[in-house]
Amino acid sequence: MKGVILAGGLGTRLFPLTKVTNKHLLPVYDRPMIYYPLKTLVDSGITDILLVTGGTSSGDFLRLLGNGSEFGLKHLNYTFQQGEGGIADALRLAEHFAGKDPILVMLGDNILQNPITEAVDEFHANPTGAKILVTEVEHPEWYGVVELEGEKVARIVEKPKEPRSKLVAIGVYMYDNTVFDLIRQVEPSARGELEITDVNNLYVNQGQMRYHRVEGWWADAGESFPMYLKANMMAASLQGVKPTISEHP
Ligand code: DAU
Repeated sequence: MKGVILAGGLGTRLFPLTKVTNKHLLPVYDRPMIYYPLKTLVDSGITDILLVTGGTSSGDFLRLLGNGSEFGLKHLNYTFQQGEGGIADALRLAEHFAGKDPILVMLGDNILQNPITEAVDEFHANPTGAKILVTEVEHPEWYGVVELEGEKVARIVEKPKEPRSKLVAIGVYMYDNTVFDLIRQVEPSARGELEITDVNNLYVNQGQMRYHRVEGWWADAGESFPMYLKANMMAASLQGVKPTISEHP
């Protein structure tokens, strides 16, 4: 299975930190944010990876990551998103790279405690339709909210004011190669973006959407400053460091 990491967009929720650099180059504890999704993919056995960047700092990704050798890769593919037309708009750029293969898409600001090998292996063995990774959170209204009917996904609602469930779709999606045809059916949302949730709902309507609950914690480091701070704390804990305010060197 091929991997696509999306690292375009403006990162406006982290302004002014993102005024002169790309959000995914910001530090999360002791390394740049983009290291985390890249490591998640490699640890899950995905080594053929395309990075979609955008904005003014896109050349910095090449300087930072090169051909991916720090992650044990022989090669890393790059492409550039003009503007910031949304997650599904960025994903469109992966069509040529994906060819006929299924893909795993990870948002460049998502950080996971554990590898996702089990979910990847299951999709790899049965690569039809789509699969989302889900988890329960305290504030589902900040994310794509997943409503279940029995054990089936009934719908996904993007950032609803009154969420009907605490279950949300995290930024990891697996698709068969029909995804690019489905993206072509999607219209820009009220905020002018091609929404990944609209693409996912097309799979839901076809009865082709599966889900997998992630184990351990998950953070969307780009959601807000409090979540960025939390992602830093979580990332520190990955290395056995527990920061407290009273701890001065
Ligand atoms: O993190 C999980 C959430 O991610 C999901 O629960 C939501 O359903 C999904 O819509 C998404 O919501 P966000 O509001 O967090 O998406 P955001 O605009 O922050 O974009 C997430 C990543 O996608 C970002 O780190 C880079 C990439 N992106 C985004 C846009 C808008 C691009 O590459 N290009 C873009 O134009």
